[in-house]
Amino acid sequence: MIEINEEVNFTKITNSNRINTGLARLDELISGGLPKNSITLISGTPGSGKTILCYHYLMEGLKNGENCLYLTSDERINNIIKQANNIGFDFQQWLNNSKLKLMYLDLDKSTIHKEMEQEIKTGNYTRVVIDSLTPITEVPVWVSGINEIMPSSDSTETKKYPVGSLSTTRMHIRRIMSLLNHKNCTTLITSEIPEGAKSLSRDTISEFLVDGIILMDIDVTMDRRKLTVRKMRATKHTLKPQNITITEGGIKFL
Ligand SMILES: Nc1ncnc2c1ncn2[C@@H]1O[C@H](COP(=O)(O)OP(=O)(O)OP(=O)(O)O)[C@@H](O)[C@H]1O
Ligand SMILES: [Mg+2]
Repeated sequence: MIEINEEVNFTKITNSNRINTGLARLDELISGGLPKNSITLISGTPGSGKTILCYHYLMEGLKNGENCLYLTSDERINNIIKQANNIGFDFQQWLNNSKLKLMYLDLDKSTIHKEMEQEIKTGNYTRVVIDSLTPITEVPVWVSGINEIMPSSDSTETKKYPVGSLSTTRMHIRRIMSLLNHKNCTTLITSEIPEGAKSLSRDTISEFLVDGIILMDIDVTMDRRKLTVRKMRATKHTLKPQNITITEGGIKFL
């Protein structure tokens, strides 16, 4: 089914195996939307528009009547509503009717993985956002048993892998990804990358484990912003950076 989105003048493609991102032009670039049940990394330098892209994604789901979960370890969680409002996203009514849940992940607690797992299992969410993955993956963890990742405060037993090693980080990220692999859940995860970095995430591993990567970029000298689809499972897509801008209404393609 095809419908015209008058506001942005792009064609909105409706396909049951694809999840609309809330940005019609982005959907067009990836065969109609994100593959259902996929995990996509939104990578970019500070201020490149990662969180705003997530607002579009959540708002699209809420308008469709879906249950949406936004996970963050940012203590200023109440500011998120204000920030979203400033750029044209009014989430209040969906918070009121519990279609949107904002969940604060306290990284000092050893139970964060269990809390996430519990919420995702019981909440019947179709859209999940983790904003951002970076501080979560930097929590010190121990590996016990074969594949069990545990927050460090739980660890009194011997460790099998050195904390902070690549293999531990990889296992930790896999563990987080496995929490998200639930029923009809399609996920966006933001990842901060330092200016000029060659990798697509700060941990240098998650880009290999996700189904898709969207890179948000700022060209300071040219005063321009770009969005690039770097990877998307089962999707033929251009690798060409797309010119975008951020305005009071969020992200716009130029
Ligand atoms: N009302 C607005 N009009 C135009 N641009 C805006 C407006 N509000 C925010 N911006 C731009 O959006 C940027 C913030 O976008 P966003 O919060 O999505 O970035 P981010 O990639 O999530 O950053 P961080 O890595 O710090 O979390 C601001 O730095 C600013 O350039
Ligand atoms: Mg952000």
